Amino acid sequence: MTDKSYRNECGSCHMAYPAGLLPAHSWERLMTTLNEHFGKKVEISKKSRKIIFNYLLNGAAGRVDYVVSNQMIRNIKGIPIRITELPYFRHKHQKIPAQQVTGNPEIRSFSNCLACHTQAEKGRFNEESGQGSSE
Ligand code: HEC
Ligand code: HEC
Repeated sequence: MTDKSYRNECGSCHMAYPAGLLPAHSWERLMTTLNEHFGKKVEISKKSRKIIFNYLLNGAAGRVDYVVSNQMIRNIKGIPIRITELPYFRHKHQKIPAQQVTGNPEIRSFSNCLACHTQAEKGRFNEESGQGSSE
């Protein structure tokens, strides 16, 4: 499911976030600001950039039939560049105290989806482990 170039170039510092978690405009913004990517400079070849860009745009939320996407883009304002700032994300994680995340060296950040959702790279989030709660 995940494009190899995407996994190689965008999955080294954090997991390769499924394309369907952000709309096309957001990926576009991210891919055109890689020089200042959350305090890091992401360098990739022109060729890989093109492949990845296409991959992300084709799989972006609103362009694929993926339930989580449809929820993720609900009530979005502007062009968000973080999944963790989307209204649906916030809503689903509001009961988790920030301290429990930032204060845990094995999690550190909400951006670290894999720490709590072992199937996150496959785009599955409803069988979370470790945190207990469910719908
Ligand atoms: C050099 C390391 C590095 C590389 C390579 C990298 N990123 Fe990131 N990325 C970061 C950091 C650091 C953050 C902020 C994480 C945090 O706040 O905990 C981040 C955050 C993100 C987020 C927001 C996550 C959230 O909080 O919702 C997205 C989306 C993202 N990166 C996409 C990409 C894409 C697409 C690529 C490949 C083109 C990429 N990243 C490559 C370092 C990197
Ligand atoms: C600290 C642990 C933790 C981290 C990190 C985390 N999540 Fe979650 N997530 C949860 C828990 C717990 C729930 C269940 C909340 C509920 O159902 O009330 C959840 C629920 C969700 C849901 C809703 C699933 C459903 O079917 O109801 C989605 C989607 C989701 N997370 C995506 C993400 C993404 C994407 C990331 C990374 C950007 C992430 N999560 C990071 C703990 C975490």
